[in-house]
Amino acid sequence: MKVGVVGAGLVGATAAYALTLRGSCSDLVLVDKDGGRAQAEAQDIAHAAPVSHGTRVSSGDYASLAGCRVLVVAAGANQKPGESRLDLLDKNAAIFREVIPSVAEHAPEAVLVIATNPVDILTDLATRLAPGQPVLGSGTVLDSARFRHLIAERAGVDATHVHGYVLGEHGDSEVLAWSTATVAGLPVDDFMKARGREWSAAMRDEIDHGTRAAAAAIIQGKRATYYGIGAALARITEAILGDRRSVLTVSAPTDEYGVSLSLPRVVGAGGVEDTLMPPLTGEERAALEASAGVLRGTDRRLGE
Ligand code: LAC
Repeated sequence: MKVGVVGAGLVGATAAYALTLRGSCSDLVLVDKDGGRAQAEAQDIAHAAPVSHGTRVSSGDYASLAGCRVLVVAAGANQKPGESRLDLLDKNAAIFREVIPSVAEHAPEAVLVIATNPVDILTDLATRLAPGQPVLGSGTVLDSARFRHLIAERAGVDATHVHGYVLGEHGDSEVLAWSTATVAGLPVDDFMKARGREWSAAMRDEIDHGTRAAAAAIIQGKRATYYGIGAALARITEAILGDRRSVLTVSAPTDEYGVSLSLPRVVGAGGVEDTLMPPLTGEERAALEASAGVLRGTDRRLGE
């Protein structure tokens, strides 16, 4: 199976590297307006293939995307210290108006996986710029991973056995749905009590802050995030390529809220195969509606 990565910056190149190390696909092509950058990243990643899964890694122009099953779109600017994801909208929307029609023309069968921020709004825009083509955004898959990682630390268990969803905007208004969080199948509070683990409201607040502030803290220290999002993009891509029907909090147009946002969704060969609305508390549901309101307000700025 062939995968394209459009935008060979830190996020796109790291996603390509993750796909190579995980052996997610047989062929990988990197495209960037800076062809030299795409070529160098492809060559560097190709050198990992012989000692991992033999992925054929190359670079090229939009025409080289023909035959891709998935296109990861990471083209655009990333947040600078102090910048919100929504601050990137005008700059990255302009890039999308150029990039999306071109990639759709050359890979009309591909599922578009949007990574560029603000990912929810740009998922909506990509859906309009590539009518009829399946589009989803990485949404809060990364935030849910951060949420699970922090709970796992407190629970003292493998993070792959912790589940929990962050919903709504991939951004400041996101909703940590504690009512969905479980450790080894038990609600978090029950698990911590059963295992005699130290647990308190203050610790929940720490996890809430740690999840929301993760990107800003990392950007402050190293100017960008790319490993977490790169792995999340590889995981989403694998769910599509393998028709895995994985439940992931990807972003997609959601009629109930009139905008793209993240909910637990079944991801398979066609992209989003189904959407699952968890039984949220009243407080969580109100926060999700507020998050949708933030996104609708920003979406309207785009005009079309
Ligand atoms: C982050 C970027 C991907 O949350 O928005 O790290």
